[in-house]
Amino acid sequence: METKVIELTENTLDTPESEEVLKEAGSIIKNGGLVAFPTETVYGLGGDALNPESSRKIYAAKGRPSDNPLIVHIADIEDLRPIVKTIPEKAKKLADAFWPGPLTMIFEKADIVPRETTGGLETVAVRFPSDPVAAAFIEHAGGYIAAPSANTSGRPSPTLAKYVVEDLSGKIEMILDGGQACIGLESTIVDTTVEPPMILRPGYITKAMLEKVLGEVDVDKTLLTDDSGQAPKAPGMKYKHYAPKGDMAIVTGEADEVVKRINDLTAKALSEGKKVGIFCSSDTAASYDKRAVIKPAGSASDEDSVARELYRILREFDDENVEVIYSEAFDYGGVGAAIMNRLLKAAGRRVL
Ligand code: TXA
Ligand code: MG
Repeated sequence: METKVIELTENTLDTPESEEVLKEAGSIIKNGGLVAFPTETVYGLGGDALNPESSRKIYAAKGRPSDNPLIVHIADIEDLRPIVKTIPEKAKKLADAFWPGPLTMIFEKADIVPRETTGGLETVAVRFPSDPVAAAFIEHAGGYIAAPSANTSGRPSPTLAKYVVEDLSGKIEMILDGGQACIGLESTIVDTTVEPPMILRPGYITKAMLEKVLGEVDVDKTLLTDDSGQAPKAPGMKYKHYAPKGDMAIVTGEADEVVKRINDLTAKALSEGKKVGIFCSSDTAASYDKRAVIKPAGSASDEDSVARELYRILREFDDENVEVIYSEAFDYGGVGAAIMNRLLKAAGRRVL
């Protein structure tokens, strides 16, 4: 299949040309096809959420296990009601505070949502993205878009359309290129069917932000340690995600010690003939061994930048055939919790 790649940005959304593109994208979805599209978090691989055949195609295109449920994306708060059994009071509060935006909530599903979309579960994950291109696309496509991140299963989520092209070209009908995703990490997932509500995946909407609206909020404890012996509540969190091809480790400690330690480890790996990559902040980038591939993600105090650049850098290490990756650790405050969650997964939890 030939995959059309079409630029569609917020600034040109109102033009007749864009309207044509949106109509075409919408009709692909209504006919059971797949369109990748930008959101404020990462690119999504969209299909009609109410069509079981579309969800099957999504799993096939991604190479994703079909027990790993998809998120249903809406572009109008009125569209929530028909796809869920009930809307808990706390979910209403979170929707008021954070929708549209990078928050996904779990509800009990209504019958019209096929089990193919929910990976066999009786619950459904729903997200209302704030990206204007995403919103326009969802509206033109009938209002309900099932979309996982638009990467091949096991690769980092795409923050640029070129990475969607790399992973999915030839497998889907169309890719809408809206430029770089501004957040760069997947949405925060909150289960609103339990009391207190529980964070199943950390993201840009932090625990503190949720608590400000709700009071007490739990965190799925399998996210914090992997020795609980339990499966994570979001089925996708159990898979080895976001993994670069190189062996990765995170180095913790005081800033100067971390630099020294990474330089020592780098020298050793280089002496063994290995290609080394370093994931670091721009504050320390100049202190590292120049023989390594050094990739700063922004200042450690600018966690938004680190979040935005993280997946791009992991992919670049792959493209440059880096064999060993050392990463600095970042603070857990705010978005830092989500950054560290993704880094730990990428490193298979190897911390030095
Ligand atoms: O930011 C995002 O959420 C992006 C963009 C495209 O919106 N989407 C995304 O989708 O990250 P995906 O499929 O890569 O991750 C969805 C996660 C998986 O870990 C899945 O197991 C979990 O959500 N999930 C989906 N439905 C669920 C449910 N009913 N109960 C528990 N977890 C669920
Ligand atoms: Mg994903």
